[in-house]
Parts: sequence; C-alpha cells; structure tokens
Amino acid sequence: MRILVTGGAGFIGSNFVIRSLESKSNLSITVLDSLTYAGSVANLEGSLQFINFVRGDIRDEIIVDNLVSSADLVVHFAAESHNDNSLENPRIFFDTNVMGTLTVASACAKYNVRLHHISTDEVFGDLPLESTESFSSETPYKPSSPYSASKASSDHVVRSWIRSMDLVATISNCSNNYGPRQHWEKLIPHTIRNLHNGVPAKLYGDGLNVRDWIHVDDHIDGIWLAIERGVPGETYLFGSRDTQSNKSVVECILEKIGLRDAKLEFIRDRPGHDRKYAVDPVLAEKTLGWKPARGSILNELENLIPWYEKLLRD
Ligand SMILES: NC(=O)c1ccc[n+]([C@@H]2O[C@H](COP(=O)([O-])OP(=O)(O)OC[C@H]3O[C@@H](n4cnc5c(N)ncnc54)[C@H](O)[C@@H]3O)[C@@H](O)[C@H]2O)c1
Repeated sequence: MRILVTGGAGFIGSNFVIRSLESKSNLSITVLDSLTYAGSVANLEGSLQFINFVRGDIRDEIIVDNLVSSADLVVHFAAESHNDNSLENPRIFFDTNVMGTLTVASACAKYNVRLHHISTDEVFGDLPLESTESFSSETPYKPSSPYSASKASSDHVVRSWIRSMDLVATISNCSNNYGPRQHWEKLIPHTIRNLHNGVPAKLYGDGLNVRDWIHVDDHIDGIWLAIERGVPGETYLFGSRDTQSNKSVVECILEKIGLRDAKLEFIRDRPGHDRKYAVDPVLAEKTLGWKPARGSILNELENLIPWYEKLLRD
C-alpha cells in the first residue's frame, strides 16, 4: 500500500510513520511536510532510509496533485496546531488548516484516493468543569479559538467533499495526545524543559482546566482501525476517558522528577481558554474494536519523562 502522510515530521505524524513501519508490512510511505518551526526531520531519525521524504506545502496544488496521484491512501496530519499561536497569528491557521485541507481533499477526490483526516475534540468547544457529559460525534461544533475554528472548518471541508465531490474519506477527532517527539511549546515537554533549566513550571489561570489525555500510540492504533475497518463518511472520536487537570499533570511531573515541593507559577489565563474536554469513544470501541492499551497519563509519565530528559542532556 502506498501511503502519503502529510505533516509526517510533526509530533503525531512522525510517531505514526515510525509505528506503522514497525507494525505493518508492505507499506510504501511518502511524507509531505513543509517543515515549519513545528516539524523536524530529526523526528524521523532512523526511518528516513525507509520512506520518501518530500519537503513541500499542502497548499501547493502541483506537489499535492502529483503525490496524491500515485498514492492509495492519504493520512492528513499537517496543520498549524498550537492554540496560543492562533491568537497571535490566526491567518496562517486558516490558510494551512482550511485551504491546505481543501487542496488535499480535492486531489483525493480527483484521483479517487481514500483520505483519513485527522482532527481534534476541540471543535466541540468546552464543557463546564463540573459536567459529567462527554463529546460524541453527534455533539454540535462550537469552537472557541482560531485553531479550533480552523480545524472545525477543515472537518466541514472534508464532509462537503464526501457529500458533493465523491470523496472517500473518514475523519477522526482525538483528545489531547502525549508521547515522545512533541514540540517543546506543548505543556508536558515545556514543563520538563523548564524544570531541567531551573525555571518554575507554569500553568495558565488556576491550572484546573481538564483534558482527556491519550497516549499517541493509542491514537495511532485508532487511526489504523478507522482506515481498515471504518465506514467511509463516518467520524470516529478517540479519547481514553482519562480526564486530568493540567495542574495534576504538572504536579505529577514535579513528583516524578523529585521536585514535589517546587513552587508552581500561575500565569495570566489565555483568552477563551477551554475549561474541560471529555470524549465518549463508544462508537470507535463498538464498531472498530478500538481500546486504548495504555493506563492513566499519571502512570505513563514515568516512562515519558526520561525520553525528554535524555533529549535535553544530548
Ligand atoms: N497534538 C494533539 O494533542 C492533537 C490532538 C488531536 C488532533 N490533533 C491534530 O493532529 C494533527 C497533528 O498534530 P501535531 O500535534 O502532530 O502537530 P505538530 O504541530 O507537531 O505537527 C504539524 C506538522 O505539520 C507540518 N505542517 C504545518 N503546516 C504545513 C503545510 N502548510 N504544509 C505541509 N506541512 C505543514 C509541520 O511542519 C509539522 O511537521 C493536527 O491536524 C492536529 O490538529 C492533535
């Protein structure tokens, strides 16, 4: 099978490439990535000799058309992904996430190539902290930030191409991923690096915002099940029901690093900061047979922290 992976030099995309090479046979992988500040070929170290890496932009119709025409499947990760940046510079989020997805979806429809589009639970907005509800694929879209609005728009692009342009595609919306190769700007690597440099760990607002944490490998296994067993046109939600506040995650890192009594720094909250995400993955569990293999993030951090500490030392 010839797969085109967009955004394969980023956090989830590179983990997808590496895990797929390890666990699947007869794959021919091409990565298309423009290497923004968030992407790095170093993330693909050890895999580069087994793949075809193309530096290029998903908004470039000629490159995308050419690569999609010789693929059997496109897995579309490429995006601007950092909420904070989307408040400072929203335009690039809509350019990349919406127009880039439109370019990819159009080429897939033109060559009748199956697309799997990667999206986020943030398209649903947030839940009150005290809520016991969770998002399902029936939950109306209510994005809060330019990032989530651009991802919501990209989902609508894919659905409209399915309905009107004969695109064969599935979509997945996943909760907060953690694992190796995440950019330093994101909460877990950022906290580990700060502590390594003797800087206090920082939290937005009261730090009580809750996220549904999922290991990146569980997300990747879900993506493969959606590709292999999913119904074209369907949307699958992935989340591990492991809802933890940012403060609990940061305190757990402090404890595991041996800095339990270190002071936290609470900084001015991000405008529009979503309070709580929680995902109901029952459709993926029942119809794809998906089940996260990892335990709670509060246990998994034990294995993850040394991975980032080694990177900081080397
Ligand atoms: N990280 C999460 O917790 C999470 C959760 C759910 C969904 N997602 C989605 O998963 C996907 C991947 O997220 P991530 O965390 O790995 O992001 P990331 O920022 O680590 O990686 C994004 C990659 O896309 C590339 N890219 C950006 N603009 C591009 C363009 N115009 N053309 C080609 N390549 C471009 C970057 O160079 C980078 O390698 C995104 O679509 C994101 O919305 C992420």
